[in-house]
Amino acid sequence: MTSEERASFGSKLGMILATAGGAVGLGNVWRFPYMAGDNGGAAFIVVYLCCVLLLGIPCMLSEFIIGRHGAANTFRAYNKMSGGNAWKYVGLLGVVTGFLITGYYAVVSGWCLQYVYASLVGELKGNPQYVMDYFTTFSHNPVRPAIWTLVILFTAHFVIIHGVRGGIERASKLMMPTLFVLLLTIVVASCLLPGADKGVDFLLRPDFSKMTKSMFLGALGQSFYSLSIAMGCICTYASYFSRQTNLLKSALQISVIDTIVAILAGLMIFPAAFSVGVNPDSGPSLIFITLPNVFNQAFGGMPAVGWVVSLLFYLLLSVAALTSLMSLHEVSTSFFFEELHITRKKGAVIVTVSCGIIGVLCSLSLGSWDFLRIGGMDLFDLFDFVTGQIFLPLGGMLTCVFLGWFVPRKTVRDEFTSWGTVSGAFFGIYLFLLRFVCPLAILAIFLHQFGII
Ligand code: PHE
Repeated sequence: MTSEERASFGSKLGMILATAGGAVGLGNVWRFPYMAGDNGGAAFIVVYLCCVLLLGIPCMLSEFIIGRHGAANTFRAYNKMSGGNAWKYVGLLGVVTGFLITGYYAVVSGWCLQYVYASLVGELKGNPQYVMDYFTTFSHNPVRPAIWTLVILFTAHFVIIHGVRGGIERASKLMMPTLFVLLLTIVVASCLLPGADKGVDFLLRPDFSKMTKSMFLGALGQSFYSLSIAMGCICTYASYFSRQTNLLKSALQISVIDTIVAILAGLMIFPAAFSVGVNPDSGPSLIFITLPNVFNQAFGGMPAVGWVVSLLFYLLLSVAALTSLMSLHEVSTSFFFEELHITRKKGAVIVTVSCGIIGVLCSLSLGSWDFLRIGGMDLFDLFDFVTGQIFLPLGGMLTCVFLGWFVPRKTVRDEFTSWGTVSGAFFGIYLFLLRFVCPLAILAIFLHQFGII
């Protein structure tokens, strides 16, 4: 298949929204706000922005360059860029990482759907202890979470089988504006609550005494996770970019959208939490245990508003999760259908079935099948650890080394400047960051998380 015949995004807007949709996910809502609040507020945000600018964007650009150059799935794209040598296995690592995350990301995405349903039928009302136990009862149930995992996986499947333009791009053009409207509505409702200013203060008050090594490395890790670096997603979507796409500008636009969503998520969560004197948490316990109670209490005097806000919030999460899940699904789908020379539909079936099995096993490992443990971790944590803590830094670092040191400079420059049609003014800076700064910074996060530095 030549690159002319291959699927591509139909419009610039569609391309930006789809790729930003892949990046904007649960990490923006459940991780960023907490990290910012707990690590120095505006001081963290400034450091985070520097990480995005100096490390996230160069890494995203590198995946853009490899993906668009290859005009194929991530494995084949690395293979083409490397001329068939062993670097192709870095591409394979990206595919494997994307594949392994798909199953467990679907489990969490499924929880979001359950909470949409529970908000809708009023199951999240009641005394605070009941609401807190609701999540444990639900996630330990052998059937319900597994069903929602499959429902969201099938939804992603349904979008993917309609192809790049008719599926991913069309769905993203609908879902991303919806996500923004939901986000802004909840931000307004949350910031209007009495005492909301304390939450805004928590998120934005700069505290420079928190600028420690851990905070820098935390910001760095968060920027990579949030931008979906080294998971195959960015590279796969870039393989559908046109030759006219300005890669640097696109990476900037996507990063700006991703960061705005993360900051707005903080302005949605903290004002409500602080207005009722609840200390925010991070991770699943924030959104599935703490927040339902916050919504109940904060809008206690206006139950109808509380009902709407809770419903809109979980819808927002589901939309954010689904667009990311689509990008993950597409990584493996494109791999299977191109490598096995089968149809897109068949490729998607392989992914949905296998990731469905992984997802259901991960879900069961949290509850009734808690004997499913490897190395002291349940399957869910294991997948999270292996992909996020090992494969992500490894893939990211190797990609920088590969593109920075091994690919001919002219090839990289040609892609960077879209064959001389856009400015190459920043190429020198990009190459410097790629060769020296990014690999060392990623190595630092890697060693830090194992307590080595
Ligand atoms: N970037 C996503 C988020 O912020 C997480 C993610 C990583 C999604 C990798 C897909 C692939 O939640």
